Amino acid sequence: MLNKTRWPFPRIIAHRGGGTLGPENTLVGLRLGAAAGFGGLEFDVRLARHGVPVLMHDATVDRTTDGRGAVVDRDAAELRQLDAGSWFGNEFVGEHVPTFDSAATLCRTLGLWANIELKAEEAAAADTGRIVAQQAARVFGDASPAPLLSSFSETALAAAKDVAPDLPRGLLVETPPADWRARTQTLGCRSLHCRHDAVTPELIAAVHDAGLGLLAYTVNDPGRAMVLFEWGIDAIVTDELKAVRADLLAQYGLEPPV
Ligand code: G3P
Ligand code: MG
Repeated sequence: MLNKTRWPFPRIIAHRGGGTLGPENTLVGLRLGAAAGFGGLEFDVRLARHGVPVLMHDATVDRTTDGRGAVVDRDAAELRQLDAGSWFGNEFVGEHVPTFDSAATLCRTLGLWANIELKAEEAAAADTGRIVAQQAARVFGDASPAPLLSSFSETALAAAKDVAPDLPRGLLVETPPADWRARTQTLGCRSLHCRHDAVTPELIAAVHDAGLGLLAYTVNDPGRAMVLFEWGIDAIVTDELKAVRADLLAQYGLEPPV
């Protein structure tokens, strides 16, 4: 049974903005996710040169732009010169690497909820958590529900907690470690996020007993999504926005997404 105090957020979340509908971590991707009916989007944020956060999954621009090299070696204006759309499809030529500020502002404008994933190598993790949390608090203000910051980096989450303690946090892991309770408690987390193939009914019960929500990534098969929801998962992240639709829960007579 969904507990809205434990999980006040959307339950089916588009991965990297628009999933497979558009180039990841771009403004057009966010718009495509919204147009597909998704009220909640996950995207990845890391620091460019001079500490400006931008949307980017990898530490280098190689895979998702027409450039080469480390994100941190370019400032936001230099990143804006790169083409972040053509690798995905000709119709996306000219799409930019967005700043976090522009993506967060678009979410606010469109009324979208965000799961903001903090990406950082350890040396930059504290700065990443601090800077992104401060900007998120400023742009999202009193949005309800508040955006959810998540990270594999406990350093980043701790820094976010220091500067914006009221912004909810989720600890990202692949498979939950034995001490996930202590780790999430230290970081004041609201949720634990893990790979969907690590989820069991027992894990869901234990996470709920700890007062946390459980989010599973990346669930691209609708049948698997329904199994997870029947087990009581709080939320899933998906690339397949047409197959694992935002209204899947309502379609199956379960509680509708927020
Ligand atoms: O937050 C869930 C998921 O996005 C984590 O994996 O590599 O796609 O950022 P990744
Ligand atoms: Mg991510």
